[in-house]
Amino acid sequence: MNILLLGSGGREHALAWKLAQSPLCGTLWASPGNPGIQALLNAMSTRANAAAPGRCLVLDLFDHGAVITFCQSRGIHLVVVGPEAPLVDGLADSLRSAGIAVFGPSQAAAQLEGSKGFTKDLCTHAGIPTAGYVRARTADEAHAALASFSLPVVIKADGLAAGKGVVIAQTAEEAAATINDMFGGAFGGAGTEVVIEEFLEGEEVSLFAITDGTAIIPFGSAQDHKRVGEGDTGPNTGGMGAYSPAPVLTPELEARAMAEIIAPTVRAMAEAGMPYSGVLFAGLMLTADGPKLIEYNCRFGDPECQVLMLRLESDLVALLQATAEGHLALAAAPEFAADSAMTVVMAAKGYPATPAGGGRIDHITAAEANGAKVFHAGTALGEDGALLAKGGRVLNITALGASLQEARDCAYAALAEIRFEDGFWRGDIGWRELARLKG
Ligand code: AMP
Ligand code: GLY
Repeated sequence: MNILLLGSGGREHALAWKLAQSPLCGTLWASPGNPGIQALLNAMSTRANAAAPGRCLVLDLFDHGAVITFCQSRGIHLVVVGPEAPLVDGLADSLRSAGIAVFGPSQAAAQLEGSKGFTKDLCTHAGIPTAGYVRARTADEAHAALASFSLPVVIKADGLAAGKGVVIAQTAEEAAATINDMFGGAFGGAGTEVVIEEFLEGEEVSLFAITDGTAIIPFGSAQDHKRVGEGDTGPNTGGMGAYSPAPVLTPELEARAMAEIIAPTVRAMAEAGMPYSGVLFAGLMLTADGPKLIEYNCRFGDPECQVLMLRLESDLVALLQATAEGHLALAAAPEFAADSAMTVVMAAKGYPATPAGGGRIDHITAAEANGAKVFHAGTALGEDGALLAKGGRVLNITALGASLQEARDCAYAALAEIRFEDGFWRGDIGWRELARLKG
C-alpha cells in the first residue's frame, strides 16, 4: 500500500517510523516531512523486496487539488494527516470525494478541535462531564458573563490558536484585559468568539482513542509537560516532553472516561451527521468528581505520539487503514508494550518566544547506540549536509524501559551524547510520576 504522510514534526517522524515497520507499507511519501523522515525513506529502499523509495516533497496542503493530483499520479492508497490545520480546512473531505482513503476527520468532525464552543455545546447536549461554561460572541457578552464565575477563571479563544489561546486569569482585571485582547484581535480569527470556563482542579492526563465513527478503540494514555521550565514553570509550549502510559489514569478511570466522555462524543457526532473518523485525543482533568473533558484534539499529540509509537506493538498501517476505510470493528485490537516510554524535547534557545534557528546538531547516531530513538521535530540540512536546528522544538529523544525510571535513564543518557550548543531541554520530564514511584 502506498502512503502519503502529511506534516513535518516529531509526531510525523514517529508515525513514519512505525508505518515503515509494517509489511503492508509500500512506498511511503511525506509532505513536507523532515530530514529524519527522509533518512528513514532512504533506508527503506535498501530492505528486501522494497518498493521504489518515496521521498519528502513540498505540497501546498491547502491546495486540495494539488494534493489529490499528487495522490493520483503516485497511486497513493492512504493519506495520513498529522497536524490539525489541514483537517479543519477540510482536506480529508476533498480526498474522500476523490476516492482516496484518509486517516483523519472531516471538516465538520474536526470542529471538535477547531471550535471550543462547538465542543462545549456537544458536551451539554450529550451529558459529557466538562467545566461549566458560557460562549460569548461580543466583548460585552463576555464581560457580562464574568460575573457568574469565581476566580481563577479560564478564557479561551474559540478557534485554532496554535496552543496559545487559553488564559487562566487569576484576577478580575486580568480576565477583563484578556477579553479585550481576544476581541481586539490578539489571536486573529480564533478570538472572534470566546468561551469562558470554570477552572477545574486536578491532574491532567491525555487519553487517545481511534474510531471510524462507530467502533471505538482506546489507544493509550500519556502525560506531557506544557511549560517551558523545570518544575512546570514559565510560558506554555507545544510540550517539552511526555511519557506513556500515565498510571494516574487507572484502568477504572480510563474505562469511565471511555464510557462517559469518548463513547458519547462519537455517538453524538454520528447522530449529528458528522461521524468522527481518526484519532480522538482527549485532554482530561481528573477531578474529585471523576474525569472531565478539558478539550479535544482531532490528531495525535506532539510529543505524545512519539511515546505511543514506541510502545505500540501492532501494525500501524493495518489500524489506520481499517479506521480510514470504516472497518475498525473487524481489526485486531492494538497491543501496547507494558513498558514505559519517555520522550524529552530538545528545543532551540529562545523557544517558545523567539527560537534561535541554525544551530548545528551532531552525534545523533551515537545517541541512538543505547537503544533510544531520536525523532526529528524541527531540523534542516545545511548546504554542507550538516544537521541544523529549524524551529522551536528540534529533537525528541525517546526511549522505552521496563519502568518509567529505566525509560528516563535511557532517554537522558542518549540526550547527553548529542551536541547541540544552541539547544536546551528540561531535566525533569516525568517528575510527578517518578516521585510517586519513589513514594
Ligand atoms: P489548551 O490550549 O486548550 O490545551 O489548554 C491549555 C491548558 O489550559 C490545559 O492543558 C490546561 O492545563 C489548562 N486548562 C484549560 N481549561 C481548563 C479548565 N477549565 N480548568 C483548568 N485548567 C484548564
Ligand atoms: N502536546 C499537546 C498537543 O499536541 O496538543
